[in-house]
Amino acid sequence: MTTQDPGASKALLRHQLAESRLQTDAVFDIVRPDALYERPIEERHRIIFYLGHLEAFDWNMVCGTSFDLKPLHPEFERLFAFGIDPVEGNLPDDKASDWPPVEGVRRYNLQVREAVDQCLNKADLSTSDQPYVKNGLIFWIAIEHRLMHLETLSYMLHWLPLEMKRGLNRPAPDSQSGPAPRQTRVPAGQARLGAYRENGSTFGWDNEFEGHSVNVPEFAIDVYKVSNGEFLEFLQAGGYEERSLWSGDAWNWLCASGIRHPKFWLKRGTEWWYRAMFGEIPLPLSWPVYVSHAEASAYACWRQKSLPTEAEFHRAAAGQETYGNFGLRGWDPAPVHSNESARSASGVVEMVGNGWEWTSSAFSPFPGFERLPFYPGYSADFFDNKHFVLKGASPRTASRLVRPSFRNWFQPHYPYIYSGFRCIRR
Ligand SMILES: [Fe+2]
Repeated sequence: MTTQDPGASKALLRHQLAESRLQTDAVFDIVRPDALYERPIEERHRIIFYLGHLEAFDWNMVCGTSFDLKPLHPEFERLFAFGIDPVEGNLPDDKASDWPPVEGVRRYNLQVREAVDQCLNKADLSTSDQPYVKNGLIFWIAIEHRLMHLETLSYMLHWLPLEMKRGLNRPAPDSQSGPAPRQTRVPAGQARLGAYRENGSTFGWDNEFEGHSVNVPEFAIDVYKVSNGEFLEFLQAGGYEERSLWSGDAWNWLCASGIRHPKFWLKRGTEWWYRAMFGEIPLPLSWPVYVSHAEASAYACWRQKSLPTEAEFHRAAAGQETYGNFGLRGWDPAPVHSNESARSASGVVEMVGNGWEWTSSAFSPFPGFERLPFYPGYSADFFDNKHFVLKGASPRTASRLVRPSFRNWFQPHYPYIYSGFRCIRR
């Protein structure tokens, strides 16, 4: 991401940095002050970690790596350096009292913002005098890292008890039914994956390179994302009890967790309800179902279909020109057919927006992958066949991240995220 005019690039970076800070500040403001040490998702750090993490990351990357400044607060720069993604049930067991007082974290954050701004002011984006500053690379890393956390914070706070949140009201109940499910054919052809380093100025994370093409045979794909109503049929048919629909790992996870419905659903008497970000409403049957990879895979198996591979997703999504439901438009999804004009060339509706979509592809490096030298574990730590690729975008995905080469990934048994799916038949 660059322009020929370094001044213009710097102005764009300043603007995006300031805007992304306002956006993450607004998300933290949802948390009532006495809830900042809560842990809404047991596999993740407490909220206070993320309050320190965004700035400590910026300090470590921009001020430390590129501008070689001495540590501002060595303890914070270690404590808040990296998040966690425990596999195989090793949950964190730290206590709230293990974390520093919030006032100190907020003071630190203000100091870091000033220091990062000063680095940007004196940066020469046209040269390589300071490492990773050319074309604004390290600043884009900071901005996009913050925007990715904008979404992970959003879904994390989704699971904070309602009484610990402030701000918006619960959404209006939505009783419309979903569209009749149907599929459309995607002809055989080449899928273009990833981004090309070419002139060295294209911004992308390490896992987006190198761009390449893949031959994809013809297949048929659902025109709409799978809705809550369709998934309810799976549940009512006993899908969660049918061992043959689940992989061994997924079945063990079901048995151990006791999960018997999508995390976003809850039962009141005989009625299904939906837990939206700011309140509960009767289950909106036309909204996309948000589920884990394991649940999406079991549903696809039940319909005698499959999840698309990453390459198949690209083939089906190519040419979606109209904007979908992303870019922080709201907090909750809309009916799967509410954005009919957001169609790909193959006639598939809203593959980008209204919820990420699971693929059957394990997260793995593209040919020509090279780690980011200043953040070697960003992707490579997750090339473990225990994470799957998601594509598209959710309502809480910043517009800047919505590009065809962007790849998201999560463990298959992680039910908290804004991730839906659709099925294919080969
Ligand atoms: Fe992070």
